[in-house]
Amino acid sequence: REEKERLGVKDDLKLTLNAVKVLEARYLLKDEEGKIIETPDQMFRRVANHVGVIDALYDYANFQKKGTVREDGKKISNLLNTQIEVLERGFNELVNDGVLKGTFGQFMDFIYTKPTIAEDTIEKFHKMMKSLEYVPNSPTMMNAGARLGQLSACFVLPVGDSIEEIFEAVKQTAEIHKSGGGTGFSFSRLRNKDDIVGSTKGVASGPVSFMKIFDTTTEVIKQGGKRRGANMGILRYDHPDIMEFITSKDSENTILKNFNISVGMEDEFFEKLDSDGYVDLKNPKTGKVVSRIKARTMWDSIITHAWKTADPGLIFLDEINRANPVKNIADIEATNPCGEQPLMPYESCNLGSINLAKFVKEDNTIDWDRLRETVHMSTRFLDNVVDANNFPVRQIKEMTRKTRKIGLGIMGFADMLIMLGVPYDSEEALKIAENVMSFLDLESHKESQNLAIERGVFPGWYGSEYEKEDILMRNSTTTTIAPTGTISIIAGCSSSIEPLFAIAFMRHVLNGQELIEVNPLFEEIMKKRNLYSEKLMQDVATTGNLSKIDLPEDLKRLFKTAHEIDPEWHVLMQATFQKYCDSGVSKTINLPNDATPEDIGKAYRLAKDLHCKGITVYRDRSKTEQVLYSGTSG
Ligand code: CDP
Repeated sequence: REEKERLGVKDDLKLTLNAVKVLEARYLLKDEEGKIIETPDQMFRRVANHVGVIDALYDYANFQKKGTVREDGKKISNLLNTQIEVLERGFNELVNDGVLKGTFGQFMDFIYTKPTIAEDTIEKFHKMMKSLEYVPNSPTMMNAGARLGQLSACFVLPVGDSIEEIFEAVKQTAEIHKSGGGTGFSFSRLRNKDDIVGSTKGVASGPVSFMKIFDTTTEVIKQGGKRRGANMGILRYDHPDIMEFITSKDSENTILKNFNISVGMEDEFFEKLDSDGYVDLKNPKTGKVVSRIKARTMWDSIITHAWKTADPGLIFLDEINRANPVKNIADIEATNPCGEQPLMPYESCNLGSINLAKFVKEDNTIDWDRLRETVHMSTRFLDNVVDANNFPVRQIKEMTRKTRKIGLGIMGFADMLIMLGVPYDSEEALKIAENVMSFLDLESHKESQNLAIERGVFPGWYGSEYEKEDILMRNSTTTTIAPTGTISIIAGCSSSIEPLFAIAFMRHVLNGQELIEVNPLFEEIMKKRNLYSEKLMQDVATTGNLSKIDLPEDLKRLFKTAHEIDPEWHVLMQATFQKYCDSGVSKTINLPNDATPEDIGKAYRLAKDLHCKGITVYRDRSKTEQVLYSGTSG
């Protein structure tokens, strides 16, 4: 408690110390002097106020259309100035879209005199966030009701093959990073190195050298003190500069430090790989074949570099586009920085995750009814964010409002499995994954259909796959599994669908002291079974896992950590979640330090064969900078 107060945070939600530290650094609003002016509960209230109030706009739309008001609503008693700002922006956009008509003043008269469900919605949103059952992505918490008002984590920007277009994209990147968003790019349209530049008759410098400009921009912006920006760079397998791209993150004093890179693969590559054939590398401008390379040679380079540096990953463009529900608008060429969100050029997506650890009942079963309710509420929340959002770039606003992509996912999956007594690397865990994700996908689609009836289909619905199947939808996608890197710390649960990273570890605190941090579920179970001792916790903290600890086998199996789990199980888990996920699944395929490039090749190939949308691996200690080490012995 003392430490929390020293940080200037009045913790009214009984969060973990780590959660409070994260909130203090970047989330809780501060005054001009840098003093924190809200509590964690007030932060969630601020978010609920600004996202929930959007409901009033749609109640007004129905009032204009049908003359009806919400029987179950009530009059709004008071609005904050910042809520009025959000409503005014949302109102003007809906007038532009032809959904509303009249003046903002008329709308304000409506909400002060007629019942709407906005207040009720605000209460529900607030409740599910403060109980840590649902947490939106970081930018929503940082910026809702604050100056920037940009609420999304994921963006994809097009990079055209001219100096003007490239630097336009650099500028847009800066705008996005300033607000805490991450950007993905396909560089495949840029002409290859040494191709002739028409206007000057000089030679082009190629995609990799332009990527460095984006990298430096990110470095300089550092997201306005909010968080360091992240990028995804993608190049197609048949671009002439592909081999330079694959090796671009090699150098020790790492260039492209702010980039993850992935090779954009198509089915054709794997056919060539299997038949020991050659890939034609084509000038993206003219389509002319510039050279050829053996598919096997490219593959060997990919897996060797992924072994060395964890880059490049792969994204499977054909798989992604087969699942693209709005093929009528554009093809997908890229994803966001962590790879879980495929997006069309200029599209953005806002994410949010349900903490599964909160849905295990006392009798160790899953509380499906409450989960259903939360899925519906959070789907509505994410749809509201599209209207509450202050988009940094005009084209992004237009594209995002056209497809209304949202990404509901989960975190605390490993915690849930432990509470249910099921090891991560087991058939039973895959079955639970399947049950949970199919339920989440189905219920969020149902809510999107409800919203379509209440608010209308997304504008790009006409001509989409949904129209062909005659399914009304408010959002072109509803589910994405995000890494939940920060929000899982805030919620105090295991991240995303990952297994535990360490059971216990030493944390360095001030004045050279060390504190042991033990996974709370482990501590609880050890106490229940009378196995707890300080000495044991100390021992566990030195290695991070239980492999060399004298404990009953069932516990060792239940608490296996990421590096002890066979890579194949990691891929199987990713593929199982992917089956029921509209967008992509964030998953790190952990490999031990002594894994070989062939092991990486196997994991990459398995991901392709199991219809994943992409894959990234991480071999323990393969990067010089690793944020988290399990155990102190490493
Ligand atoms: O937990 P949080 O909401 O902060 O984010 P996450 O689930 O770990 O990451 C979701 C997405 O946010 C990533 O895929 C990126 O698009 C973006 N992101 C970013 O731009 N910069 C970061 N430092 C972290 C995430």
